[in-house]
Amino acid sequence: MHHAPVFSVGHALNHAPLCIGIDVGTGSLKAIAVNGCGVVVAQSAVEYNFDSPQPSWAQTDPAVWWRATCAALRTLTAHPLVESARIESVGIAGQMHGLVLTDRGGAPTCPALMWNDQRTAQVCERVEQELTPQCIWQWTGNRLLCGFTAPKLLWLREHQPDALQRAHALMLPKDFIRLRLTGATHTDVSDASGTLFFDCEHRRWSSQMCDALSLRSDLLPEVFESQTITSRVHEAGALATGLPIGTPVVAGAGDQAAQAVGTGIVHEGSVACTVGTSGVVFATTHTWRPTPDGVLHAFCHAVPSRWHLMGVTLSAGGSMRWWRDTMCADLVALARQRGVDPYEVMIDEASCAPQGCEGVTFLPYLSGERTPHADAHARGVFLGISHRTTRAHLTRAILEGVTCSLAEVLALVRASGARTDRVRLSGGGARSALWRQLLTDAFGIESATVTQPDGAAYGAALLAGVGSGLWSSVDAATASIAESNGTTVSDGAAACVPIAARYAAAYRALTPWFRAAIPLQ
Ligand code: XUL
Repeated sequence: MHHAPVFSVGHALNHAPLCIGIDVGTGSLKAIAVNGCGVVVAQSAVEYNFDSPQPSWAQTDPAVWWRATCAALRTLTAHPLVESARIESVGIAGQMHGLVLTDRGGAPTCPALMWNDQRTAQVCERVEQELTPQCIWQWTGNRLLCGFTAPKLLWLREHQPDALQRAHALMLPKDFIRLRLTGATHTDVSDASGTLFFDCEHRRWSSQMCDALSLRSDLLPEVFESQTITSRVHEAGALATGLPIGTPVVAGAGDQAAQAVGTGIVHEGSVACTVGTSGVVFATTHTWRPTPDGVLHAFCHAVPSRWHLMGVTLSAGGSMRWWRDTMCADLVALARQRGVDPYEVMIDEASCAPQGCEGVTFLPYLSGERTPHADAHARGVFLGISHRTTRAHLTRAILEGVTCSLAEVLALVRASGARTDRVRLSGGGARSALWRQLLTDAFGIESATVTQPDGAAYGAALLAGVGSGLWSSVDAATASIAESNGTTVSDGAAACVPIAARYAAAYRALTPWFRAAIPLQ
């Protein structure tokens, strides 16, 4: 585990109440303290990784998340500006769709199967045939996708029945942290949406879906709107983390809904594009408007009576992390010497390669893909390498490939009728000026970033503040979210067209090859 230092980014109102936000991410756990003016007082992060025992598997021992939570919160609560007496409430966000099963004593019965795990592909094909996509869509507003929670449960039933038999509760990754902090098994509407056991339109568990899949309904947690206080930090949780006993904990949100709150995407109009491990394009809707074929996810927002549409590129920043860890050790060492982020050095090198990478195309399907191609067979590919190709070309090709995938997702959002006037970029990828420009050019709309770091943890802290009364509503909490100075305007849209066409053609050409060469689990 790698611990990032805690640091203060604001000193306003040293005695004002604070709300704490936690984000159980894929690559790191982030904790953040925010005051009633929405200013970040302190933050802390702990990095970790997930296990991939087979090519299409992604799993983690939930204990890794809890250890990281304890370390990050202990660092945060030891910060001089985060006095215990000021802490009013806690909100938790986290990676969506992961299946965590715990026994009667609260211990996981097996590793958590994560959102980017594709082992359920065959289960999905079978269940879609049995139940029909139309019924699944009617009950949930969505189509059955490998990454969602429901097929993971069916896979376990077939392959590790013991883990299911011993299970007393089913929860999502962030809810495991709540269990450890408070003893409660609760979840929220936005995260429940990604299980496929949820009737997103009516914001309650879908009895039809649970019955059709023979799910023991006693396994499901009670579900709340995101800003509702549902439990309080108990003695063991307080001892482990440094949070005061009795601190209220709100239901919280899936990381993408929390990220949207943290970047102020709570009304129709602007869309959020987040480049974290996954890449996401997210549009708020004020009415329930699922896409007819379920090509986009239609989930509850973390704001009561609002929903959202989104599409997901599974390996966005995740492709860059893979590249950093496998091929860029020298640049990581150089970055360490200079005291800068390795991605900065990698992207500096990439900026030496010309736009279009002299024909090199990268398909970012390291974990298969979800949107627009729901394809568990797909894999990552570099195409078009020549004697002139350098690492700079390959790194830039990764940035361009992920960008093309996100532009395809944005096109679907637009085609659904959702407004895409402007985009707010966030996540690690948005720190790079080059990547921001590539995304803005490919989207063909103006983009901006916001001043707050760590959107999902920030959004979770705002939800906590709404729960404890620091703000009267999520709208009030997000009203003052500020954009950083300077927007990025789209000035190279025309040049993106051939790159996007080449990218789309590469996937089309390789689809039969993926099907033939990559067997499903
Ligand atoms: C959203 C999704 C990912 C994870 C991890 O549907 O699968 O974005 O939430 O961030």
